[in-house]
Amino acid sequence: MTTQAYIAMASLGLFTLLRGCGSSPVQAPTHQLQTSTQLTDQACDDPDAPIDCCFRNMPQPLTSTMTMAELQEPGERLVLSGTVYQPDGKTPYQNVVMYAYQTDHTGHYTKKGTETGVQKWHGHLHGWCKTDQNGRYEIRSIRPAPYPSNTMPAHIHAALRPEGKPAVYISDFVFKDDPLVTQQYLATIPDVGGTGIVDIRKNKQNTWTGTRDIVLKK
Ligand SMILES: [Fe+2]
Repeated sequence: MTTQAYIAMASLGLFTLLRGCGSSPVQAPTHQLQTSTQLTDQACDDPDAPIDCCFRNMPQPLTSTMTMAELQEPGERLVLSGTVYQPDGKTPYQNVVMYAYQTDHTGHYTKKGTETGVQKWHGHLHGWCKTDQNGRYEIRSIRPAPYPSNTMPAHIHAALRPEGKPAVYISDFVFKDDPLVTQQYLATIPDVGGTGIVDIRKNKQNTWTGTRDIVLKK
């Protein structure tokens, strides 16, 4: 593949991500960091709202466990966990707030009607947690389905905000057994916090479980 072809493919893929996710996975480098108090309902009620809108509605206090889907949510249960590391790749990163959202078991960002701000676009399957003193986090959810168009792997979007630092979107969580996770897909993603590919397996409780450790480069 020529360099030009690679760039064209990568650009097309990123455009697909931007169009398909209800919010931008990557912020423009010129984005001005806004604090939660500066953000307005109007500014956050937008599919391409600033990344800090993701953190505007989070409850307090947060624990290291995010319950994104209640037990009655249709779909196969999924538990993802891991450790967030500082840029040296070895020191656990504590007090990193993680926000995540995903499609339901039909591939839609379904809403309950009570969502406000950017969650109007992200749907009801969203949540927050904060890494503990060992950098650990856990997400309790259901396995998302790919979009009905089937053009992109099933995925979970996530944004991380270390204490006192700007938030960043990491590469989406995707699943190793998904046939849509291809080399072509990998060529299109921003490698932030790794590729996001998680090798999930079903445990004895019939729950998909997997681990993703994340090194934040900044
Ligand atoms: Fe998406």
